[in-house]
Amino acid sequence: MSKRFYITTAIDYVNGQPHIGHAYEKIISDVIARSRRSLGQEVFFLTGLDEHGQKVQQAAQAEKKSPQEYCDALAADWQAFAKKLELTNDDFIRTTQPRHKAFVQAALAKLHAAGHFYKAGYTGYYSAREETFLTEKDRRPDGTFDPAYGEVVELKEENYYFKLKAHQQWLIDYIEANPSFIAPDYRRNEVLGFLRSQTLEDLCISRPVARLNWGIPLPFDPDFVTYVWFDALVNYISAAAAHGDPTVCAAIGVEPGPDQPPLSLWPADIHVIGKDIVKFHAVYWPIMLKAMGLPLPKQILAHGWWQKDGARISKSTGNVIDPVAVIHEWGLDAFRFYVLRELDLGPDGNWTDAGFKSRYSAELANGLGNLVNRSLSMLKRYRHGVVPARHDELAADAARAADETRALLKQNQLQSALQSIWGLVNRANQYVDQTAPFKLAKDPSQAKRLDEVLYNLAEACRILAVLLQPFIPGTAARIYAQLGLGGSPSTLDAAAWGGLTPGQTIGEPAPLFPRRDD
Ligand code: MSP
Repeated sequence: MSKRFYITTAIDYVNGQPHIGHAYEKIISDVIARSRRSLGQEVFFLTGLDEHGQKVQQAAQAEKKSPQEYCDALAADWQAFAKKLELTNDDFIRTTQPRHKAFVQAALAKLHAAGHFYKAGYTGYYSAREETFLTEKDRRPDGTFDPAYGEVVELKEENYYFKLKAHQQWLIDYIEANPSFIAPDYRRNEVLGFLRSQTLEDLCISRPVARLNWGIPLPFDPDFVTYVWFDALVNYISAAAAHGDPTVCAAIGVEPGPDQPPLSLWPADIHVIGKDIVKFHAVYWPIMLKAMGLPLPKQILAHGWWQKDGARISKSTGNVIDPVAVIHEWGLDAFRFYVLRELDLGPDGNWTDAGFKSRYSAELANGLGNLVNRSLSMLKRYRHGVVPARHDELAADAARAADETRALLKQNQLQSALQSIWGLVNRANQYVDQTAPFKLAKDPSQAKRLDEVLYNLAEACRILAVLLQPFIPGTAARIYAQLGLGGSPSTLDAAAWGGLTPGQTIGEPAPLFPRRDD
């Protein structure tokens, strides 16, 4: 059983509709998953929903639904959204699924039996309205709490705590010894800075049922449910166990799921997450895994956050981008392309409608779209769509783009890979202008030269389809269809020059990205 390349996304809170941030993370992960498949690796791509906790309980109450009813209705929307983005996820986990709940309880029981938890009382200032404990930092300069918290009372609460301190030095040593564990580097440095300067507080892993009941009951104390983050992080391994992963099943002592043959997934190769949840993934999660006797994921890859017009995206101010509306108006691939091309994996990004339209027009309509459309239209017009004899004038340019793309995809450098691919788009468009096939077509003595140019252009289009497949798979399939090739490009090996067979007839050229005046 060979281990698959296992990539996960954060699981989204199911307390609203998906926005650009959720879409972005899932698209990056999908592109990495597709890239690995096109590099010939077997992949398992997991995404899903985080359905427990106070936020969900409150949102359900506001709609006068039971939390489960509320989650079921929204989960259908989120799953439809994953389809709309054409994600190639192999599973979709929901933390309210019995398979996940049973696994979390098995993991908790094991950790409890091994002495990793203790019960202790905590006295703090509690806001019933916000259902949260406040700290001294929440006080205003005059010492009072904001009236938005309502009545704040001093409350003593018992809970279970997970001992973290004992693992602090081990984690520092691990991160230092494994420089690629947290990427990009500046996130790794932030985590190390935090770990070196502050003593870890033990993590409260329970909530009293009296205060919050929408959660997974602790298997060893029915008066408590599991803290939502402890439950959520475990999704990465509960899903692996559900597919029969032997490492996880043996460590936790659970029966493998029904997959035949079972899949080998753990350790994950990449957890793709946003910058706001690095501490959960790079501090709590590694310690949880160590305590469970499991190896750590190979990489935590933290992306930046999108803003719109330079301001925080916020439902309350109406500063939002509705991905479904953008996809409806411009098409999925225009949306996928923009977020991948605009923002490198790491820093924050800024969505502007003008920026979106400008990339659409320059890079998609006038760049890629124009190249494919004029290349194939000329082949149709001048040669009845029949591919001429092979000629290698653009072969070196195509090989460079393919080699660069391959190397960049191995390092998850998605934006740079697109830049490299556009190097070929621009080169081929320039080649049309330089060779002027429309002029050659008027001169019968130039027939051979016209054949050469048309082959180079059609073959460059084919190679672009292969390279673009992980990023904009629908467009790649359309280019293939217009070239008269069946299906869609599957592996990067197909980017070798000369794949187009002379004598073959192409399909019907049609604009990939119609020009828009608005
Ligand atoms: N449920 C937790 C994650 C648990 S993972 C074990 C959560 N959910 S979330 O819905 O709030 O966020 C899901 C992901 O979306 C996070 O990785 C978060 O960083 C990302 N984003 C949320 N808003 C975003 C932007 N504006 N821009 C980019 N990504 C953003 O956290």
